[in-house]
Amino acid sequence: MLEQKINDIKKQVAQAISKIKNSQELFDLEKRFLGRKSEFTDILKGLKDLSQEDRKKIGELANRTKNEIAGIILSKKQELSGAVDLGKEKIDVTLPGYRKGIGHLNPITTVQNEIMDIFTSMGFEVADGPEVETEFYNFDALNIPADHPARDMQDTFWLKQKSGEEGLVLRTHTSNVQIRYMSAHKPPFRIIAPGKTFRHEATDAKHEHTFYQFEALVVDKNISVANFKFIAKTFFEKFFGRELNIRLRPSFFPFTEPSFEFDISCAICGGKGCSTCGHSGWLEIGGAGMVNQKVFEAVGYKRNEYQGFAWGFGIPRLAMLKYKIDDNRHFHSGDLRFVKQF
Ligand code: DAH
Repeated sequence: MLEQKINDIKKQVAQAISKIKNSQELFDLEKRFLGRKSEFTDILKGLKDLSQEDRKKIGELANRTKNEIAGIILSKKQELSGAVDLGKEKIDVTLPGYRKGIGHLNPITTVQNEIMDIFTSMGFEVADGPEVETEFYNFDALNIPADHPARDMQDTFWLKQKSGEEGLVLRTHTSNVQIRYMSAHKPPFRIIAPGKTFRHEATDAKHEHTFYQFEALVVDKNISVANFKFIAKTFFEKFFGRELNIRLRPSFFPFTEPSFEFDISCAICGGKGCSTCGHSGWLEIGGAGMVNQKVFEAVGYKRNEYQGFAWGFGIPRLAMLKYKIDDNRHFHSGDLRFVKQF
């Protein structure tokens, strides 16, 4: 008798469910068949008055049926909310898939890698140093004492320090690597040191507070300016893929003596004059010079035992020239329209 009733309820649910058109109707149906005041709940409540044998038999049937009804209601709910019935879903394997966006290198990194490739092919070693540097490595050992006006040439980010402790800075140039490398090695050697540098600058089209430099250092017994010119010419010709000349102009850096600024003949027009070189035919690239003997002394070499040249310049400048980029702030802008061009 009860079994009959339970099976009837299931049948009624199966019939009613096919007519359900929205979630409100479904909600009402659930309440009617499984709700607190439903016939089904009465049956479940009445189980306790049955004989033990019936209670077991009917109890099992009632519970199974209740689960089945709940299942029917659930799948109707999913159908109404647009959920996919995996059993019925068809996959069109001929549809084109979604392409994953693939990231790529910032042009500064590309250029830095290219610089490293060219120099390592010429037998140079790539050296590294810390970005948070002591005053000694960033300044003093490079012959820039605390009271020297050359310190003011580089607006410096200082880190907070306790009194009496050595000052720490965000390195203002990659020249710190010269000192670290020379302190740990004996000449002869040829190194380059690319890396991030920092200055307390107002940013504009040519200046950034965080930028990338590239240092080169060659030390042996008989290194001269001629070696510098040859290496510089070879490097820039490989980098820009064309013949060009190097021009030196006298300058001052505390860590080199003599010092010079160096230019290359314009990599865009070949020296004829164009808007990139301001119609001068030359591009200013960076600073260089013969390593000051005071720097050798600071790292423990004997005065006049060695000679060497060093140079340093900004990597963004080379990237801008090579890719004809007009504003150095693009590199850090995070603007995908910019980065995707390279
Ligand atoms: N450290 C200098 C700067 O950041 C650049 C430089 C000039 C590096 C001359 C050198 C050098 O190694 O010889 O302004």
